[in-house]
Amino acid sequence: MKQIFCSTVSSVGMYVPEKIVTNEDLTKLMDTSDEWIEERTGIKERRFVESGVATSDLGHKAAIDALNKSRIKSQDLDLIIATTLSPDFYFPGIGVLIQNKLSCDAPAIDLRGQCSGFTWAMTTADSFIRSGQYKKILIVGAEIQSRVIEFSNRGRNVSVLFGDGAGAMVLQSREVEHLPTATNNERGIIDNLMGSDGSGAEILAIKRPGMSGEDEFITTEETSEKAYLPIMDGRQVFKNAVRRLFESATTILERNKLKASDIDVVIPHQANLRINSAVAEKLGIEKHKVMHNIQKYGNTTSASLPICMSEACDEGKVKKGMLVLTLAFGSGFSWGANLIRW
Ligand code: ACO
Repeated sequence: MKQIFCSTVSSVGMYVPEKIVTNEDLTKLMDTSDEWIEERTGIKERRFVESGVATSDLGHKAAIDALNKSRIKSQDLDLIIATTLSPDFYFPGIGVLIQNKLSCDAPAIDLRGQCSGFTWAMTTADSFIRSGQYKKILIVGAEIQSRVIEFSNRGRNVSVLFGDGAGAMVLQSREVEHLPTATNNERGIIDNLMGSDGSGAEILAIKRPGMSGEDEFITTEETSEKAYLPIMDGRQVFKNAVRRLFESATTILERNKLKASDIDVVIPHQANLRINSAVAEKLGIEKHKVMHNIQKYGNTTSASLPICMSEACDEGKVKKGMLVLTLAFGSGFSWGANLIRW
């Protein structure tokens, strides 16, 4: 008889740097205010790394937290999937650096999905587990953004949004008679969704340095103009985020024959409190079911989902048996969702 495997979330861990930077701190560097930032985004403070710390260091610490919680040794991992938009090096990616720091020999792949990276990594890991190829997979999302934002009036529309941090998850294989569905109470990942719209690629991006066709990786002129900083059309991002997050949730609900009220907990990417509130309202999901911690950490891109998940688990808001929906949208444009019986 054919063996059937499903993925269960064994643990979720996180790490954020100790240094807290409040909205008030930012007012000393640019014309902004606590009210402007909080009213438009929900953010009150974020964490920034100290000098000498690398993205892979944050990822390593979050990985250790997740591994300790699941009581799995790094040597027993079959695969590491890392996701970041702020890697230590242009190449190689942070996956191999985290593997080395964990002293293990599991293959380590990097997956570029920006703010949707963690949902895409969960989808990828779930496919490997369902195929029977791997049994224990570590997923890490880690970001240092404080070094690629501009603390001046020119960069204020972007720099007030982002923070540094990392989150990690251990997914384990379980042999089952029937795959988890929304109705059979079997624990594990039930459904995944991934989406992209490359026509939005330049609406939120760091375009230089790169191989976009210019003769140089980055010119002296581009360096002095700080062309390596992110560009963003905030209104376009906002509009597309609400649309795609709502569509993703609706698709997942419809194809699993669920009503919004069947979902116990929504864990959205933490980009903006207003984006997530707008989506929850359109879906008709009660406010208390939607997890938020953007107030404390800002937008930590690929790390935001596991950081939010880790805190929700530690606070007892996500418990065994609950039906959990993750949602993410970001640069690309990219979006994703996972439906999990926790
Ligand atoms: N402090 C004070 N004023 C500011 C700041 C700031 N930090 N940034 C911009 N402003 C000013 C602008 O210069 C503008 O001034 P003007 O009217 O004199 O020209 C005014 O505020 C309004 O600017 P808008 O950009 O139109 O402000 P908006 O209301 O759209 O809010 C924001 C900007 C918060 C970025 C919003 O568009 C947004 O949240 N968009 C989503 C972006 C996002 O979440 N990106 C994260 C990455 S992608 C992801 O993770 C999903």
